[in-house]
Amino acid sequence: MTSAPEFIVEPHPHPVDAVTRAAMIENPGFGSVFTDHMVTIRYTEGHDGPWGGWHSPTIGPRKAIPLDPATAVLHYAQEIFEGMKAYRHADGQIALFRPEQNALRFNRSAARLAMPALPEELFLASIDEIVRTDKDWMPSVEGGSLYLRPFMFASEAFLGVRPAKEYLYIVIVSPAGAYFKSGAPAVKIWVSEDYSRAGPGGTGAAKCGGNYAASLLPQSEAIAQGCDQVVFLDAKEHRWIDELGGMNLFFLFDDGRMITPPLGTILPGITRDSIMQLARDEGISVSEEAYAIDQWEADAKSGKLVEAFACGTAAVVTPVGEVRGKHHNFTIGAGGPGQLTVKLREKLTGIQRGTLPDPYGWVRTVAGV
Ligand code: PLP
Ligand code: COI
Repeated sequence: MTSAPEFIVEPHPHPVDAVTRAAMIENPGFGSVFTDHMVTIRYTEGHDGPWGGWHSPTIGPRKAIPLDPATAVLHYAQEIFEGMKAYRHADGQIALFRPEQNALRFNRSAARLAMPALPEELFLASIDEIVRTDKDWMPSVEGGSLYLRPFMFASEAFLGVRPAKEYLYIVIVSPAGAYFKSGAPAVKIWVSEDYSRAGPGGTGAAKCGGNYAASLLPQSEAIAQGCDQVVFLDAKEHRWIDELGGMNLFFLFDDGRMITPPLGTILPGITRDSIMQLARDEGISVSEEAYAIDQWEADAKSGKLVEAFACGTAAVVTPVGEVRGKHHNFTIGAGGPGQLTVKLREKLTGIQRGTLPDPYGWVRTVAGV
């Protein structure tokens, strides 16, 4: 058994002062404010330490990383990431939501991208370490959290097309408020009929940067059409609903049933999995079922479909109000948040934020905060 990882600690010599920090986290939005520190852990093939090839775990100042122009990730996109949040509870503790699931998914993504697995213990210790160090960056704004972004990339300078022999794992932290700028009660989504995000046998189920690169053009199309997000259809028939660019989808019917697209080419969302559990415990019948875009439109128009929502770490639970596309144009219910959507969101956020009991053991507090 390996002992607990010990991090090399290099405190920031000039951390942001308290007054400036308070202004930075007053209304942070999503993804543009960053804390003082970052975690780095290196992997070198052939290194033989207590963590196999992984070594030099360090918590130090957040700073630019020099890269050789031949660094493999810049050419062949061997990169994966995770997204998770830390929440402040009323008792002052800081809690993470199912972080072991992020560790497991990180390693499933690593396997698909031919990258080395990062020991789960090292992943979890890196998260605890950065949260303890930068805990004062927690925004107090309603719905605020610390968004944690662990990622790993091929850092070897080599142009041959093969898995790299060196990797760098980093965790950065971004104080976060609401994901959607509009603050609208429901989002408008655009059906991408020309582009796919992922195909069978591809990397759709992995959280790799390349998937998001492929989503940017259709996402820009969505914005140009006055929508907030793009919904992708399957790559073969352009018929079956997959997911949004950064969220999974759920559909609720007038008979009380709820469905979500099956796993395969979509990201297995941790929020998706949690919502299925919460809904089942509310007595709702939930199934993982393929759902066609034309059927969605017909069901919304006939009133059979009563609610639809998107979910993910960054966006939590977000109602879908309207759907637009070259051949689609429909509103869900009254176009605002549905009753069950709001109930499930409150249950989920209540558990995450410690205002509701956690019967599933999903919440893990960070020691030493
Ligand atoms: N689908 C995609 C493409 C995502 O990027 C995300 C966000 O991480 C999700 C779904 C939701 O996953 P999770 O609930 O684990 O955040
Ligand atoms: C998340 O919800 O964590 C995501 O990764 C979605 C997006 C910000 C990429």
